[in-house]
Amino acid sequence: MVKIGIIGAGRIGKVHAESISKYVKDAKVKAIADPFLNEETERWAKTLGIQHVYKDYHDILQDSDIAAVLICSSTDTHSSISLEAVKAGKHIFCEKPIDHDVEKIKSVMEAVKRSKVKYQVGFNRRFDHNFRAAQEAVLNGKIGTQHVIKITSRDPEAPPVSYVKVSGGIFLDMTIHDFDMVRYLSGSEVEEVYAIGSALVDPAIGEAGDIDTAIITMKLANGAMAVIDNCRRATYGYDQRAEVFGSKGSVAVTNDTASTATLSTEDGVVAEKPLYFFLERYMQAYANEIAAFVEAIVKDVPVPVNVVDGLEPVLIGLAAKKSLAENKPVKLAEIKSLFDL
Ligand SMILES: NC(=O)c1ccc[n+]([C@@H]2O[C@H](COP(=O)([O-])OP(=O)(O)OC[C@H]3O[C@@H](n4cnc5c(N)ncnc54)[C@H](O)[C@@H]3O)[C@@H](O)[C@H]2O)c1
Repeated sequence: MVKIGIIGAGRIGKVHAESISKYVKDAKVKAIADPFLNEETERWAKTLGIQHVYKDYHDILQDSDIAAVLICSSTDTHSSISLEAVKAGKHIFCEKPIDHDVEKIKSVMEAVKRSKVKYQVGFNRRFDHNFRAAQEAVLNGKIGTQHVIKITSRDPEAPPVSYVKVSGGIFLDMTIHDFDMVRYLSGSEVEEVYAIGSALVDPAIGEAGDIDTAIITMKLANGAMAVIDNCRRATYGYDQRAEVFGSKGSVAVTNDTASTATLSTEDGVVAEKPLYFFLERYMQAYANEIAAFVEAIVKDVPVPVNVVDGLEPVLIGLAAKKSLAENKPVKLAEIKSLFDL
């Protein structure tokens, strides 16, 4: 049984605690830490059988019975807590992104390389049953030579401007999952990025210096092209689709819905909207990614999403940011050279 400590009891920390208790048989959450814990959170932790509730995550790092930590605190704390956890000899699952600062990600990379700890990054969509089936079709050669990868990724509602201001911008906060999906589905690296975007949903997002709607095109090392379309608000719900098209055919992923029932009447045909947001769409994927992390610890095999997989989408995001600012395509090599990568 792998004993786990969760650092950060916000939205995603709670999701992981609940999914481990329901679905991950070889793991148990022993402790959770958050400086802003309230009585309600403490009561919730008790209902899940979590033994210890701390305000300071160092109490988790000092517990030698805890083998692994999940870093689910706000993004600005991920890299420093990662470094401390490596030092404490804990296996680490870190929510995306590891950091917005590439130098800080590099220091985590180096610390992990020098240690024996496992380090997995929270790109949960790789563990979604639909995207996984699409990737298998690509890996099994069903698509032939890849030509085009298309990803649609739209949220049901825009976050508050206070969140936008500390998010690192749409590319590092939201599109980062789609950049990871391009790498995952294609099995290739991104070489060049061109981004256009605008604040079309909420002018306050524009005033905060960000955009809420974007189209990003990419050239990949395997010769294929990729396109992502993003929007912070789709009136019909969480729109998460993908297609890989190539010389032998295409594999497409559509949205998950609560049911596949369609109502046909003289007025038209009505089907279910997509599941509302990430908690509804990806609950099983969150459980699968932690099960894979625990399996890597138990069997002592490599984690399925490693620290390099955490770094690459940040570099692509920075290239997209530069492309948008300068209105021209940006090569990944140019971004990498800034950081001696
Ligand atoms: N993979 C995904 O689909 C996904 C989804 C949501 C969030 N995230 C990521 O997870 C992280 C948290 O997001 P969230 O939506 O849960 O945010 P949130 O604001 O709901 O929760 C963050 C929690 O971290 C706590 N915290 C801050 N500093 C801490 C510290 N030093 N020690 C312990 N706890 C601390 C806060 O008090 C808060 O409760 C972010 O990095 C975000 O990018 C990933």
